[in-house]
Amino acid sequence: MNTKTAASLFEVLTSETRLSIFRLLVKYAPAGLVAGEISGMLDIPKTNLSFHLKTLVHGGLAAMEREGRHMRYRASIPLMQEAIAFLTAECCTGGPGQGGTLPAENRTLPMAPGCCGSGSHGGGGTVMDAFGTPGGGELVREAVRATYAAIAGGQRRSCCGPGSSCCGDPGGLSQALGYGAGDLAGLPEGADMGLSCGNPLAMASLKEGQTVLDLGSGGGFDAFQAGQRVKARGRVIGVDMTPEMIALARRNAAAYRERTGYANVEFRLGEIEHLPVPDASVDVVLSNCVINLSPDKPQVWREAFRVLRPGGKAFVSDMALFMPLPAGVREMASAWVGCVAGAALVEETRGFLEEAGFSEVVLAPGPGYVRRMQDLNDPLYRQIAAALPDGRELADYITSLSIEAVKC
Ligand SMILES: C[S@@+](CC[C@H](N)C(=O)[O-])C[C@H]1O[C@@H](n2cnc3c(N)ncnc32)[C@H](O)[C@@H]1O
Repeated sequence: MNTKTAASLFEVLTSETRLSIFRLLVKYAPAGLVAGEISGMLDIPKTNLSFHLKTLVHGGLAAMEREGRHMRYRASIPLMQEAIAFLTAECCTGGPGQGGTLPAENRTLPMAPGCCGSGSHGGGGTVMDAFGTPGGGELVREAVRATYAAIAGGQRRSCCGPGSSCCGDPGGLSQALGYGAGDLAGLPEGADMGLSCGNPLAMASLKEGQTVLDLGSGGGFDAFQAGQRVKARGRVIGVDMTPEMIALARRNAAAYRERTGYANVEFRLGEIEHLPVPDASVDVVLSNCVINLSPDKPQVWREAFRVLRPGGKAFVSDMALFMPLPAGVREMASAWVGCVAGAALVEETRGFLEEAGFSEVVLAPGPGYVRRMQDLNDPLYRQIAAALPDGRELADYITSLSIEAVKC
């Protein structure tokens, strides 16, 4: 990109309103938004909005596509990345007192992953790429936290973007994962947000009186069901790093107490890499679709091992990879399979558990979850399918994974 092109791009963004619209389109990439959704979110009169959208499209910063009676707008992420690369190409190399050039990792600024579907379909700077970069872990954590804060606040659905139909309804998804209609009916309203990708409770066979820890407890979906199984003598602790999720789960806990009479479920704000739980204090660790989001998975497993009592067990559902995704589809896939930001390879996962000290590790991949998503025939999935090598489907790469392990 040359200076002239960069200048004209940045000129398009000199209006405050246009900048806000563009940031919103970046947030909802790659799915994009229709004009009505944008005006609803930003409270901009329709005529003004259409002028600003046209300017963004003419300036190359957004693309427009007819969708029935509506126009869908998408941010041109690769162009923006080029513009940022232009701005930062010589970052920190010319100032006095720097003692020469900085180490390579400080020169390449990973693009902040604003959401799980940032829509960069090729090259670096994506959420998935940030997993491997120095300092990228914290960027990932912030992006994940922002995503789940928006979900907890109801501004966003699990599948990254309004208008996406890819998850179907949460109750339907949970039943497809094997949760019983009766158990689901007993949950506080809003605890099932369709964020799960497996059913760790079905593996766990919880017993009355046990202490259970749920890693990444969200709105309390598994925690409340566990609470009803361990009953009044038992205890369930949910840990989540997103304050908005903890607030939601605590509100749900009040409804749970009222409905069941149990005061045995609590939620703690914390990171699963640094659990706010004492050593050897837990009988069962559960987790549902969370560990793939962690920038430090080996540390999560070490922490799970630390807090379990000898003889304690871990039952985890997560997403994993059979093989690395082709670079061109990684970010699209991440957006589509409910924010799978950094799934590890199945065999890597075994290594994490064994290195943490776990025995009797059983890993059971299940294609059902990804297949179900494929069958929903979501437009984003159709885009992914078109980008995969001939004869391949996403279920060849990504799987839900049931994990069981024991602390001897
Ligand atoms: C996909 S949702 C799953 C929620 C819940 N387990 C369920 O099935 O409904 C992921 C949750 O994990 C939390 N989370 C993600 N990474 C985390 C981390 N490193 N430490 C603590 N919580 C985390 C998010 O805030 C979010 O609430």
